[in-house]
Amino acid sequence: MKAVIGQNLIEASEILISGGLVAVPTETVYGLAANALDPLAVVKIFEVKNRPFFDPLIVHCRNSEEAFRYAENISSLALKLARAFWPGPLTLVLKKRDQIPDIVTSGSQFVALRVPNHKLLNHLLELLPFPLAAPSANPFGYISPTTAEHVNDQLGDQIPYILDGGPCKIGLESTIVSFKQDIPQVLRLGGIPIEALEAFLGPVEIIGKSISEPEMPGQLDSHYSPGKPLILSEDLEMDIEKFGNKKIAVLIFNNVDFSQNIYKTYFLSKKGDMPEAASNLFSALRELDQSDAEIILTKLVPDYGLGKAINDRLKRAAWKN
Ligand code: TXA
Ligand code: MG
Repeated sequence: MKAVIGQNLIEASEILISGGLVAVPTETVYGLAANALDPLAVVKIFEVKNRPFFDPLIVHCRNSEEAFRYAENISSLALKLARAFWPGPLTLVLKKRDQIPDIVTSGSQFVALRVPNHKLLNHLLELLPFPLAAPSANPFGYISPTTAEHVNDQLGDQIPYILDGGPCKIGLESTIVSFKQDIPQVLRLGGIPIEALEAFLGPVEIIGKSISEPEMPGQLDSHYSPGKPLILSEDLEMDIEKFGNKKIAVLIFNNVDFSQNIYKTYFLSKKGDMPEAASNLFSALRELDQSDAEIILTKLVPDYGLGKAINDRLKRAAWKN
């Protein structure tokens, strides 16, 4: 049986209050939410997602005031970022207070906090006496969902309710900034362009580019992956020739013409608009994964603004060979 998809905030809040799971829209991607203060509710998230317990969850709060109730030793820089970017696609990793159960942080003394910017979800948070722990609502390792249908396709038979807030406006997960060290570090590129962050922080260190940090599976080498081979190409014309015996789908930033015969071409943004490209990325990967194409060829997008986060996702989604 598939989940109920709707916009009923009372129904959603009742399920959450009774310790159940609800998929919720955010401006970034859909989340799989549970009462963040209830370990028995949170454990269900890990079960449904098939997510390893060493991968901690983001806690979503209705406003900055509530978010900071769950943290201590908050630096002035963290406050400054919150003032600038909340509500919005920014997650701050701060020293946690005791109310946050260990299962949420995978035993770490630091908690990831975020104030989302989505009308329906923010209404829901207003109705609830607790914040929501929520990872992206996809099976572990697969492409993040940006519509209610994406969630239903993959997790619908395991959850009772999906709150439908339409397609996610940003389409990439939040940017994560950690205050574990004295100097802030970016743990994940995301919905806030790095240039916008650096306007507040100065040049910032982006860590976790390598694979082996089990603390940050979002940084695992292979993540956000479609089931079909996705090849990151440096020379599309050449690779189209090379795989000429297959049904090829090409996923590319903006409008270009190929002389060769291609089964399907997907432009992330025909007019070359980076935010539009970001919002289409995960839908595009899904659509091509579900199409009859046998192989997906793609190319990095220009490396500015959200392009950096798009490229980060493409590199992790691509097949390693
Ligand atoms: O935009 C988003 O951030 C979406 C929406 C639903 O809010 N959520 C999301 O969650 O992307 P998830 O679980 O798919 O990715 C969260 C990342 C994980 O890679 C996790 O390791 C990291 O945040 N994280 C969570 N808590 C952390 C902590 N206490 N310390 C360090 N990293 C943490
Ligand atoms: Mg995720």
